Amino acid sequence: MGYRQFSFLLFLCFCQLSFFSSIPHPCRKDESISLLKLKKTFTYPSFDQHSFSILSLWNISRDCCSWDGVVCDDITGHVIELDLCRSGLVGTIDSNSSLFQLSHLQRLDLSSNNFSNSHISPEFGKFSSLKHLDLSYSYFSGQIPSEISHLSKLHSLRLSTFFYSKKLRLTTHDFKSLLQNLTQLRELDLSGINISSIIPLIFSSHLTTLSLSETGLYGIIPESIFHLPNLETLDLSFNYQLSGYFPKTKWNSSAYLSVLHLSGVNFSDNLHESLGYITSLYSLYLTDCSLRGSIPESLLNLTRIEDLYLSRNSLNGTIPSGIFSLPSLNTIDLSNNHFSGQLEDFKSNSLKEILLDDNQLQGHLPNSIQNLVNLMNLDLSFNNFSGNVDISLFSNLKHLFLLSLSYNNISLINEKKVNFTWPESLQRLQLAACEVKELEFLRSAKKLYDLDLSNNKIEGRIPDWTWSTWNFSMRYLNISHNMLMSVDSIPLQSLYTIDLRSNLLQGSLPIPPNSTTYFFISHNNLTEEIPSSICNLTSLVILDLAKNNLKGAIPQCLGNISGLQVLDMHNNKLSGTLPTIFSNGSSLRSLNLHGNKLEGKIPQSLANCKELQILDLGDNHLNDTFPMWLGTLPKLQVLSLRSNGLHGSIRTPTIENIFPNLRMLDLSSNAFTENLPTGLFQHLKAMRAIDPSKKAPTPRYGYYQDSIVVVTKGLELVVERILFLYTTIDLSNNKFKGHIPSGIGDLIALRVLNISHNGFQGHIPSSLGNLSVVESLDLSFNQLSGEIPQQLASITSLAVLKLSHNHLEGCIPKGPQFDTFEKNSYEGNDGLRGLPVSKGCGSSRMPETDNTTHMLDEVSKSTFLSEFWNGILMGYGSGLIIGFSIAYFMLSSRNSNWLSRIAEELEYRIVMRRRKKKQGHHRR
Ligand SMILES: *[C@@H]1O[C@H](CO)[C@@H](O)[C@H](O)[C@H]1NC(C)=O
Ligand SMILES: *[C@@H]1O[C@H](CO)[C@@H](O)[C@H](O)[C@H]1NC(C)=O
Ligand SMILES: *[C@@H]1O[C@H](CO)[C@@H](O)[C@H](O)[C@H]1NC(C)=O
Ligand SMILES: *[C@@H]1O[C@H](CO)[C@@H](O)[C@H](O)[C@H]1NC(C)=O
Ligand SMILES: *[C@@H]1O[C@H](CO)[C@@H](O)[C@H](O)[C@H]1NC(C)=O
Ligand SMILES: *[C@@H]1O[C@H](CO)[C@@H](O)[C@H](O)[C@H]1NC(C)=O
Ligand SMILES: *[C@@H]1O[C@H](CO)[C@@H](O)[C@H](O)[C@H]1NC(C)=O
Repeated sequence: MGYRQFSFLLFLCFCQLSFFSSIPHPCRKDESISLLKLKKTFTYPSFDQHSFSILSLWNISRDCCSWDGVVCDDITGHVIELDLCRSGLVGTIDSNSSLFQLSHLQRLDLSSNNFSNSHISPEFGKFSSLKHLDLSYSYFSGQIPSEISHLSKLHSLRLSTFFYSKKLRLTTHDFKSLLQNLTQLRELDLSGINISSIIPLIFSSHLTTLSLSETGLYGIIPESIFHLPNLETLDLSFNYQLSGYFPKTKWNSSAYLSVLHLSGVNFSDNLHESLGYITSLYSLYLTDCSLRGSIPESLLNLTRIEDLYLSRNSLNGTIPSGIFSLPSLNTIDLSNNHFSGQLEDFKSNSLKEILLDDNQLQGHLPNSIQNLVNLMNLDLSFNNFSGNVDISLFSNLKHLFLLSLSYNNISLINEKKVNFTWPESLQRLQLAACEVKELEFLRSAKKLYDLDLSNNKIEGRIPDWTWSTWNFSMRYLNISHNMLMSVDSIPLQSLYTIDLRSNLLQGSLPIPPNSTTYFFISHNNLTEEIPSSICNLTSLVILDLAKNNLKGAIPQCLGNISGLQVLDMHNNKLSGTLPTIFSNGSSLRSLNLHGNKLEGKIPQSLANCKELQILDLGDNHLNDTFPMWLGTLPKLQVLSLRSNGLHGSIRTPTIENIFPNLRMLDLSSNAFTENLPTGLFQHLKAMRAIDPSKKAPTPRYGYYQDSIVVVTKGLELVVERILFLYTTIDLSNNKFKGHIPSGIGDLIALRVLNISHNGFQGHIPSSLGNLSVVESLDLSFNQLSGEIPQQLASITSLAVLKLSHNHLEGCIPKGPQFDTFEKNSYEGNDGLRGLPVSKGCGSSRMPETDNTTHMLDEVSKSTFLSEFWNGILMGYGSGLIIGFSIAYFMLSSRNSNWLSRIAEELEYRIVMRRRKKKQGHHRR
């Protein structure tokens, strides 16, 4: 659970407790009427069984001072407190509201209701006696009125909101005057409000709680904040534009500071030993703070610490002995760092959560794990732990909920078979790459909902007891990369994701239950036809059947699964025609049918798939003309029709703005004829501009909360990360003729252009020199004549140039890149002169270098490629095929050395990656 949610819950409980009943006192009639009027402005549907609206009990027949949530002053009888926290109110509070007639209010709590995105009325600024105002989590929106800063007696102001609603705003000016005017403030919580300001240097010295999480603050944290004398809680987390320095000496003099939450703030610094002075601390959150260096010994002074989060930094060295013995420690999260060395024994019984995944820890797992009787979550995955681990190590851990040992060098063994049982509490078990050979040891784990047994040595058949044991609980099941031979059926009622990729499954395709959303079963040896009962899986979002031997037709009814986003059946033996029923409103983003035996035409109903980003129909037997109408798909980024029987000329498009987002176009190895339409290149908007901001974004985990984790395991991120990266046109191996349209030179984002093996004539247009980021240019095997334009020599990014087998003549231009190309770039022309082909064009060149090393150099220098790798590998790591589709797309372009070298490197990196898989691996 995220910290924000956690504090929110705490706070809910708090407000429930504050319904103390008031001393009976005659209520003032006018105020009683105001309250009843107020009651009428709301509806309060009961929104869950634990809540009821106290308003429903307000009744004219009783004195209003005795109403729940109302407190009157003993002497004057004025209503001084109104506590409607979490009362299920729905409605708005406008400036005429009778609420504002309760002018003696000192405490007003309207938090956790639903004010329907209405604005906060400026009238709130008129409660001149108000000391406590709480409007948090109540669905207010818009600008926070500046009048709030008139409430100069406020001790506590809470306006925090759910960040993702991004609805409440506070201007920099109002933020300042708030801090300036509210000199009595003890507690200020503006978390989630869009402030987007620097932090001004004005804070009330009374402040005990300052929460400004996720407010878009930027700049540098003024050090004086750390020295506020009464501070107990400081939360500046998830302001990614904010940076800071740890005080080098004492923090605050009072030593009350107990919660310090600075996750997501950029420190780019060592963990300073001064943190060890804050001995009052019980929660320290420094996740994702760009911290480096080792953990200072002084941290062992924090004897009250309960929660210690230092994950996603670059901390290194050994984990100090003693940190696991801190007497109050509940949670220690050191994941995603570079810690090395062995683990010391665990001594603190208080430990509930130990997260050390993704480090370089080694050695045996300490036996003392079995004494951690309160442990709930243990994640040791992605380290270098070694040796045999007997599962009995965990049998005493009666509260164990999550155990992850994935991706180490350990072998899980079960020697004390007879008496072993898993704790009943165990629900998530991740044992990828743990040398697991059979499932028997899991019999006693009856409540599993998340089981990862991927990359193990499980053979044969999945035993029947598994299905009955896990029928109701199992949601995420990953048995990919094993040696399973058969799975007949998958009767698990609540299944959400099942991953059976890369096994040895034979026979027909097993159909999982209709709850299944992600279904991966690629890289097996399934034969037979795809049963039409697959269309009963109406919840499917991803269906990955690639690399099997499935045959027969693609069931037409697949077009009816309206939520389907990814349909990947590449490399099977599917035949017949493409399904024709893609209906309007289809969610399809990626359709990959590459490498089958599909015939006929490209169905026009694909034009209904407005979300389509990737369409790969390459390597089939399609027989059609160029589907220019696909150009109306607004999001289409990748179109491969290579290696089919497509033919005819490509006519000038008649529609405006076609293929606006296309970045990869592969029409190679077809039978297209005639001239290239000049008009086509006037569109292709995405290829006409280099957008330097389009980089593979680094994921910011802080934003993702539990509910969204599923999405990060799914499609969203991956698609976005990959597709920015690649801009290519491959028209090779056709029968195009005529001139190369000079408009190609306007597609300045192109990284790869291949028009080889056609009948192009005439000169090479000098406009190709505008392709300033092109890395591979192949014009070989055409009828091109004339000289090589001097402009090409200015392209510094060029790693591969092929002009061979044309009728070119004249001098080969000189330039930094041109000087590196070998003879075979030019051979088979009529009259090319100059190095490396011949002498006779003036000055000499650099000595010969080893071409292979050079090319590899180019490959590794290329930013495009390195981003491309990241994209692919992320795709791979998070269990998605999209990465693979594109990888495959490249692999199949084997007609240049350069690309096959890339292919080799890709395979290598995927293998490495498998050993050290990081993504798609979320906890909590
Ligand atoms: C500060 O509070 C006083 C009195 O409540 C008010 O008159 C003044 O306008 C406030 N100043 C700002 C900048 O809001
Ligand atoms: C904290 O620990 C360091 C060394 O570990 C020690 O020298 C120092 O005195 C301790 N400080 C406090 C306040 O306990
Ligand atoms: C830790 O990283 C720092 C650089 O941040 C490096 O200087 C130091 O040698 C590393 N220490 C260990 C033990 O790897
Ligand atoms: C293990 O189980 C056997 C029977 O299956 C029982 O006799 C024995 O006492 C058990 N041992 C322990 C240590 O619980
Ligand atoms: C799944 O199938 C069951 C009956 O087998 C049916 O009751 C249920 O509505 C189906 N669920 C979905 C999401 O289609
Ligand atoms: C795939 O299955 C067929 C028969 O179903 C078998 O002949 C073939 O050897 C299998 N291929 C592999 C790689 O196991
Ligand atoms: C789809 O599910 C329904 C109900 O579960 C079943 O009756 C029907 O036979 C299934 N359809 C196919 C094609 O298997």
